[in-house]
This record gives sequence, structure tokens and C-alpha cells, in this order.
Amino acid sequence: MFNLLDLLSPHLRIAVIFGGTRHKEGAVITPTHNPRSDKTYEAVAADIAAALGRCGFAHVELMPEDMTLGERLRRFNANFAWLNSGGTQGYASSAHGPSLLELFGIPYVGHNPLNAAVLDNKHMFKYALQGLGLPTPRFVVVHFGESIDGPGVREHFQAVFGDGSGPFVVKPVSGRASLHVHLVEQRKDLSAAVAAVHAATENSVLVEAFLSGREYCIGVCGPLVIRGGVPTRQDRPFCFSALERTFEAGERIFTSMDVKPISSARFRLLDDGADAEIARGLVAIGEAIYTAFNLETAVRLDIRAGTNGNLSVLEANPKPDLKFPKDGQASLITAGLDRQAMSYDDLILTLLANRLDFLVTRRPSGVPNILRLLNG
Ligand SMILES: Nc1ncnc2c1ncn2[C@@H]1O[C@H](COP(=O)(O)OP(=O)(O)O)[C@@H](O)[C@H]1O
Ligand SMILES: [Mg+2]
Repeated sequence: MFNLLDLLSPHLRIAVIFGGTRHKEGAVITPTHNPRSDKTYEAVAADIAAALGRCGFAHVELMPEDMTLGERLRRFNANFAWLNSGGTQGYASSAHGPSLLELFGIPYVGHNPLNAAVLDNKHMFKYALQGLGLPTPRFVVVHFGESIDGPGVREHFQAVFGDGSGPFVVKPVSGRASLHVHLVEQRKDLSAAVAAVHAATENSVLVEAFLSGREYCIGVCGPLVIRGGVPTRQDRPFCFSALERTFEAGERIFTSMDVKPISSARFRLLDDGADAEIARGLVAIGEAIYTAFNLETAVRLDIRAGTNGNLSVLEANPKPDLKFPKDGQASLITAGLDRQAMSYDDLILTLLANRLDFLVTRRPSGVPNILRLLNG
């Protein structure tokens, strides 16, 4: 196994953190609103914890991201954490977990607060993509309290779309699983769709050009790759599980996994031969995003083609679903592991090794507790 992991496995006390439940007694002072949709991801956190256990990490505990977190970490004597939470309530909630851990001085597998917030706020991510010259569908943001026909927004819409007609996609800036995603054929119907997403989320809304082509996903993480427990280091980020989502006849927006769970019928792994050019395009985008944002853990990119076949980035999921594949249920990011000669446990070790390696080499002052273990 990777030397760092060998050295640390007897000593690491890892808290695997899932989303809290704001209505639970003692979870928060005042339950407010979650502009994302409520989901704790506790079952996936348990899958991650189980894999860590199988890999020789004996001290692993699950805990919720809520007001009790600091106390629970202290009681468990945690010296490391794995964030598998989308937040519990409030705005930019994907940044709350890493922010607390930064404050507590507990290193973690997860994005730093800034990247967590940017990746989970599609409009900010898209502004950054535009700045980097990376392709993303044209868009306009309508903040909560604004209307698409209101001052400022109307002019911006005109500048972006001209007199262009639809179709458009209207969706939350922070969402998941295609929830509240509307396909709107005509300009005149945008206002009602924007109002519906505002009402559902009390947050900003994106109006994007609809791309009608094929849709793809690709996973990206750091350059250390563990196969069968054996590490290799690449000279670039590791891109894996490139696949095309399978749409049914008449399906134009990928149906929510809450409605149709992800099974092998919902995607097709890209073929090394026939799909080589598309795969190269996905990898180029994956590497560019990972590098430009200085990402510190895995993302899954959702990418769609336009009528001309050109690829555009819809979003980067900061917490790709790491469900352990079983009973015919799959997750998009683990779907292609076989082709990489990797198991689920190899992926979990890969994410852990990349993070520890990044922290020790690029953020040494942030991990005095880990350095002490290594030098101890
Ligand atoms: N601009 C777009 N053009 C075409 N389809 C889109 C567009 N934006 C979103 N979609 C569809 O909606 C789905 C969900 O959108 P996405 O941006 O990935 O948000 P999330 O997965 O967080 O709900 C996508 O998988 C895709 O099928
Ligand atoms: Mg998506």
C-alpha cells in the first residue's frame, strides 16, 4: 500500500461525516431553510466507513454535520475526517463542513470551503469556467427577488441570448439529481419557470441554453492511483468512469435518480475505440478543471454536447455519489472502475491517499497533527 497510508493506518482516527437533520433536537439552534434539497447521504457515509475498515483503518466513526460535530470529534479523539455531506441548512451549505473542520484543525477528505462553495453554486462555477475559456452553456442568473423581465436582468438576457428563442433550461444554482430542472421551449414561459424554482429554493436561478446532444460524465481526482492496493503516481489528474448517460425516447432532461435509480440501464461506459475522440475531449476538460481550480479531491463532471457535437460543462459535482455498488444499483463515478482494474476499496484508498499526499506536501502547516504522527 502507499507508504503514507501504511504509516498512518494504525493511528488515524477518521470521522466520516454525513449531512445533519436540522429538525432533530439539538442539531441546530434554529432550524431554517435548505435551498438545496434535504439529503443526509448517511448510507453512503456508512459505505465509505466500511471500506476504510476493510482497508485496515480500525478507528472510524460516523457522525452528522450539525452543532454537535465539534464535541463528537473531540470525544472520538478524531485526527482526520471524511466529508460526505452536502450541508444541513442555510446558504453555501456545502462549505459549512469544511469550514468547521478548518476552524477545528481537523484535516479531511473534501474540498476546501472556497471550492466547495463555488462548485456547489453553478453560476459561480460557470463564471469561473468562462474566465478560464472552458465551454459551458450560455446563461443568465436571476437572483431570488428578481424577475427575468426586471431591470438589469432583462438587459443581461438580451446581451446573452439576443432575440434568440429557446429551448432553455431553468434550474437551481445549487441542486441535485435534476430536481427543479425545467425545460422551457419559449421565452414567454421563462418567467413562470423561474418563479417556480425561486419558490422551491429561495435561491438564485440559472437560465441556460438547452443543449440537445448526448450527455456524458467523467470522474476526476488527484494523480495517485491505487490498483489492487498498489499505488502509481501519474503526472496529471486521474480521469475515470467516462460514460454516456442513456436517455429514453422522449427524455430530454436526465430523469432524477430519485425517480429512476441509477442502474446499468441508465448509462453506457465509453468504448476505447469508437468513443476515443469523445473520451479525449472529456479527459481534457477534466484535467483542465482539476488543475485550474487546484481541486483537492474528486469531482464528477456532467457534460453535454450541443447540436454540433461540441462539449459543454453543465456542472462539477463536488461530492460524487460513492455508494457501494450492489443489488443492481450503481453510481456513475464507480461504474468504470473495473476497466481501471480498481475495486471500490481501491477508489476509497485512492481518494484518501491523494488527500493525505496533497496535505502533507502542499499544506504542511495545516496538518501538524499528521506530521507528528509521521515523525512520531
Ligand atoms: N443547459 C442544459 N442543456 C441540456 N440539458 C441540461 C442543461 N442543464 C441541465 N440539463 C439536464 O438536467 C440534468 C440536471 O442538470 P445539472 O446541471 O447536472 O444539475 P443537477 O444534476 O445538480 O440537478 C442534466 O443531467 C441534464 O440532463
Ligand atoms: Mg448533474
